[in-house]
Amino acid sequence: MFYFILVLLLTNVFSTNEEPERATTPKSRKKSFAALVFSSTTNVPPSQKESCQWLRRLKHQSKQCWKRRGLAKILFHAKTQSIEQCQSLFKYDQWNCSKRDFFFKKLYRETAFMYSLASSAVAYSVARACSEGHLPGCKCGDPGKLPEGANWQWGGCSDNSKFAKKFTKKFLQMKKKGDGLNAIVRYNTEIGINVATENEELDCKCHGVSGSCTVRVCQKKLDFKKIAARLKILYHNAILVKPGNTIRSFKGDKNAQNLLFLDSSPNFCLNTAGRQCNSTENCATVCCGRRPHSTEVTIRNDTCDCVFKSEKFNVDCEPCMQKKTVLTCP
Ligand SMILES: *[C@@H]1O[C@H](CO)[C@@H](O)[C@H](O)[C@H]1NC(C)=O
Ligand SMILES: *[C@@H]1O[C@H](CO)[C@@H](O)[C@H](O)[C@H]1NC(C)=O
Ligand SMILES: *[C@@H]1O[C@H](CO)[C@@H](O)[C@H](O)[C@H]1NC(C)=O
Repeated sequence: MFYFILVLLLTNVFSTNEEPERATTPKSRKKSFAALVFSSTTNVPPSQKESCQWLRRLKHQSKQCWKRRGLAKILFHAKTQSIEQCQSLFKYDQWNCSKRDFFFKKLYRETAFMYSLASSAVAYSVARACSEGHLPGCKCGDPGKLPEGANWQWGGCSDNSKFAKKFTKKFLQMKKKGDGLNAIVRYNTEIGINVATENEELDCKCHGVSGSCTVRVCQKKLDFKKIAARLKILYHNAILVKPGNTIRSFKGDKNAQNLLFLDSSPNFCLNTAGRQCNSTENCATVCCGRRPHSTEVTIRNDTCDCVFKSEKFNVDCEPCMQKKTVLTCP
């Protein structure tokens, strides 16, 4: 009898503990490509940086990675670029692109952004690799029609967005069917690929006598910093949806592409002590209304006040200092 009560008590304790944990997102999915892209690189030994080891939990992607010459390096480049741009773009936000593994347990606004950034990075890296001759089987991209105006000319080697789009979709198995959650993941992933490959920029050099621009020789290039910045805007405009058939109504409307997420973000304000911010307005956000500490730091700038000493026949530079104010959340 005593044991029976104990068991009842225990089950009660466990069930009440589990209640708040219940996720909107169906749990226990296998690792996704984006989750591996955003997992930390700190314990990857240098010998493995150009290997496909970090993808071993994904059957299809790791097989492709090992099989195709040049791809390992491209994928690792996509991984490091994704993390670098995410941290740089969110340096002065409440979420600074940290604790990334946590965000792949559900589908938060942050997760949606990371899915799109990871796929855009693959597309970008592939397009660039084609133009640099690092991926056998693809060449310079076809830049298409010349812009209006007389003195334009294609030259150099454009990034191959068309190849990159096709390749990335296949690599990430975009045609694979899946449940509501996977459909949303795929949707966010596709937005990343589209934003990367549909925003080529003209990169031109002037040719002509003494700086006159008689001929403009141009190529089309992708700019990952700009791609990531576009995705950050989509992150701000992301839409909270319920899992289900919601996707269909968003599809096919090219102008209304929004990242989609299923779970409301956790409260970042519990975790911003020690963070740096860069203006009154920004500090109010990052420090969640707490007043930031202001510290003056001196930065040594050793390349000024240089004097040529003719007697010693060398250049002497005075070390000069610059003051900078650093704002830190309490
Ligand atoms: C992000 O913020 C946390 C504190 O909230 C800090 O420990 C971490 O170093 C920051 N990461 C980056 C990349 O700035
Ligand atoms: C603060 O950081 C943002 C984002 O990096 C930047 O755009 C802005 O110019 C910075 N503001 C100041 C006052 O440094
Ligand atoms: C260092 O000093 C030079 C010359 O005065 C100046 O042009 C440069 O902006 C300074 N750099 C920094 C980081 O303060």
